[in-house]
Amino acid sequence: MPNQPTRRDAVKTTAVGVAAASSLITGAPWIQKVKGANSKVSYGFIGTGSRGQYLLKHLKGIDNGLCTAVCDVYQPALDKGAETIGTNPKKFKDYRELLSASNLDAVLIATPLFAHFPVTKAALESGKHVFCEKSLVFTAEEVHALRALANSKPKQTLQVGLQRRYSKFYQTAKQMIDKGMIGQVTHIRGQWHRNTFAKDPWNKPVPAGRTDKEQNWRKYREFSGGLTAELASHQIDIADWMFGSGPEYVVGVGGTDYIKDGRDIFDNIQLIYRYPKGQKLIYTSMTTNQHLPLFDGSRTEFGECIMGTQGTIHITVGTDNEPALGMWFREPALPSAYPAGKSAAPAAVGASLVSTGKGSKGLPILLDQHKVQGSDSFLQSELKFAKLWLYGKGVMVPEEDSNPVDVELASFFDCCATGKRPLADLEVGLHDSTAVILSNQAMYDERKIYFNEIDKMGKGPVAPKKA
Ligand SMILES: NC(=O)c1ccc[n+]([C@@H]2O[C@H](COP(=O)([O-])OP(=O)(O)OC[C@H]3O[C@@H](n4cnc5c(N)ncnc54)[C@H](O)[C@@H]3O)[C@@H](O)[C@H]2O)c1
Repeated sequence: MPNQPTRRDAVKTTAVGVAAASSLITGAPWIQKVKGANSKVSYGFIGTGSRGQYLLKHLKGIDNGLCTAVCDVYQPALDKGAETIGTNPKKFKDYRELLSASNLDAVLIATPLFAHFPVTKAALESGKHVFCEKSLVFTAEEVHALRALANSKPKQTLQVGLQRRYSKFYQTAKQMIDKGMIGQVTHIRGQWHRNTFAKDPWNKPVPAGRTDKEQNWRKYREFSGGLTAELASHQIDIADWMFGSGPEYVVGVGGTDYIKDGRDIFDNIQLIYRYPKGQKLIYTSMTTNQHLPLFDGSRTEFGECIMGTQGTIHITVGTDNEPALGMWFREPALPSAYPAGKSAAPAAVGASLVSTGKGSKGLPILLDQHKVQGSDSFLQSELKFAKLWLYGKGVMVPEEDSNPVDVELASFFDCCATGKRPLADLEVGLHDSTAVILSNQAMYDERKIYFNEIDKMGKGPVAPKKA
């Protein structure tokens, strides 16, 4: 079966996995344990809401950072954040007080999007290293202002919370693409579909003492970039990384068509990006259906399909319960009867030549840890061979040994300590934010927007919004 992945192919993806993992991990001390309490990075956490608490839960297991302060304007979130990390951090309601009162090396920021820039700006100005959740900034003015400010502080780390950059599956997919294993990559399809029609996590009950705009800020354009900022930002970044450049222009259609609860953000978005070599990213996010047509329907909601002239990669970062996953499909062989020089069958050649043919069976993308090593004991190698067989049969799926969120957090503290540049650095974050801003503008204005428009947008003095 020429289009079925073979054992040799399995070895090839393993080899790439090994190369990817080792080239990224060689000299990558983020996964080394920091020895002794003195080498821990002392940090404060600002914005201990839903994401903040999730990150603090992961931070409990990261031993090269120590949480000494937490901050939230909302008392229940502040208390929950302190309780989650469990290090008896000092509590602040005003981030400016946290920045000036504490002996901190770094801050992590998980406030709503509209407050990312003012908090990041103040933190950088107070000499702290910064980890800020995606999407890094909210407006075109902030793109320019943060670039200038962060570049004037080259000794301070700035990392953005795009955790897919820290996944070994994504790193391996990038290596496979760069090695030409799926041919010329021409299209990427990305989706983040949810079915929130009945129950919407963006429309949480509003507790006494809070307003809907404080509790459900994502619904309102004055605070939020909607589905584009909250969901698409992750996957536009993947397309930029895999294609090796940012887009040239974007067109899109969005609508507030199904969820009528006073929101002014869109409840469905459809975006097409053209990249400089003609590649396209076709992106959709919706709130009425969560089917994911990848991985034989075994996952829901989000993932990317990377299409090349010789193969396809299905990939997702997953969740804490359903870890990251990558599958590789070889492109079925083209019918050999095509006349030389013709890329498609002429109508006269006959129906059999234009049939869709048989697809190839997917091969799981394998990483270093899945490979049988010379140093493995007999039992270890037998176990690995058994697992490889089960992966091949689709009974088991290979997993990364670390959650990308844990890797991004440990890596941040390592960058603070060593001065190394983060994988998800300032420019990655600003390109991503630019894409969010311009994509929303394209849908609001119903026009094609070239990415170089950002050079003219939002120039001049910036009055940061009050956070
Ligand atoms: N990387 C990811 O996969 C991922 C996932 C979820 C959320 N996020 C990002 O995390 C951020 C927060 O999202 P969330 O779901 O936790 O929102 P949330 O509303 O649950 O939490 C935000 C918290 O920030 C607090 N806050 C608001 N203004 C503040 C200020 N000036 N100072 C201190 N605290 C302030 C709020 O009281 C709230 O508790 C967003 O930017 C979101 O896009 C990233």
